[in-house]
Amino acid sequence: MRVEVGIIGGGPAGLLLAQLLDLAGISSAILERRSRSHVLSRIRAGVLELGTVDLLHRAGVASRLQAQGQTHRGFHIAAGEAMHRIDLAGLAEAHVTVYGQTEVTRDLYAARDTAEGVILDEAEDVTPHGFDTATPHITFRRQGAPGRIDCAFIVGCDGFHGVSRASIPAAQRQEVERAYPFGWLGVLSETPPVSDELIYAIGAGGFALCSMRSATLSRYYIQVPLGERVEDWPDARFWGALRQNLPSSIGERLVTGASIEKSIAPLRSFVTQPLRHGRLFLAGDAAHIVPPTGAKGLNLAASDIHYLSEALIAFYRTGEETLLAAYSERALARVWKSVRFSWWMTNLLHRFPEDDTFTRRIKEAEMAYLLSSRAAQTVLAENYVGLSY
Ligand code: APR
Ligand code: PHB
Repeated sequence: MRVEVGIIGGGPAGLLLAQLLDLAGISSAILERRSRSHVLSRIRAGVLELGTVDLLHRAGVASRLQAQGQTHRGFHIAAGEAMHRIDLAGLAEAHVTVYGQTEVTRDLYAARDTAEGVILDEAEDVTPHGFDTATPHITFRRQGAPGRIDCAFIVGCDGFHGVSRASIPAAQRQEVERAYPFGWLGVLSETPPVSDELIYAIGAGGFALCSMRSATLSRYYIQVPLGERVEDWPDARFWGALRQNLPSSIGERLVTGASIEKSIAPLRSFVTQPLRHGRLFLAGDAAHIVPPTGAKGLNLAASDIHYLSEALIAFYRTGEETLLAAYSERALARVWKSVRFSWWMTNLLHRFPEDDTFTRRIKEAEMAYLLSSRAAQTVLAENYVGLSY
């Protein structure tokens, strides 16, 4: 098979890129390791920045989002018993849209199916070759038979554990990472959300987040020490620990119920650079990871795909390679601002076991300043709704 762009990974980044390229008449094929049902079974945050919503509209996949997405013009920050609403509309003249990442992925799959896009799922041993030449190709195995895709460009959208970044010689990659000394224990429950806006809180036991998927489906998180296992967290223990990290006025009105999904995720900040190696480009989680505190993972995948699709379309329309050459620098400039914001929000809202008294006092002062300063809240709001592309 020959296409212009071979895409490794059928998550949001790969699907969105294929859709945008298709609308510009550029052929692509997606090689996805897992089954579609597995990809669609992943429970992930869906707080969409304005830029992401605009890009999904441009990709022609935003009709359900428009009908079912919830517009959020603010969220709450709580520290102990203190709670303050961050007025996104008033401070940043903007809002975010809450719409599960699973639904974004579902919409993208539906659009690719309508366009009869090539998505080869359950592809094994996917391997990029020759991306330091003008004729790269990808090999793989599928349904027991070997396969090959010849292409002009390869885009690695295969997430943090994918093959694309790993195929680049280590000497050509600069990687930085910060692993956090805790994880997030998340619960999905068929209960009404405790608030119609998100609440990010730090209490006696550390971080808590009250989020939602709909008026009858709640999503909650608490920070847990590294090494914790889901089986050590029966629902009752989770609800008790969640209440401990919330203002009592919120904890008292929490509607608890049986968890229908429960998982623990590690937190890390990670960036690899550059994002281009010859004819191989990296985008999304294959290129960077942020702690979910700032809800930036999906939004950074979207901005990477904005820059990369713009560059590929310009190349195929005019032969110009300027934007292709600039992709890594343009994407990383925005990535690092979101990495910083996610790191800042994670430090502010979590208890770090190694924090000494001085550090704890600094963080308390930072929180007190944030809750009392319009200027500080404006900075938070501007970053949360998403910086311009
Ligand atoms: N071959 C083919 N596919 C692969 C391989 C491989 N070797 N390795 C991983 N994949 C697939 C995964 O199965 C997954 O479906 O690549 C896809 C990567 O998708 P995501 O991990 O969702 O990454 P991305 O598309 O960049 O979206 C980023 O997803 O993980 C969240 O928090 C993250 O919200 C952010 C968003
Ligand atoms: C979620 O709803 O899963 C969610 C929301 C906001 C975050 C992280 C996760 O910052």
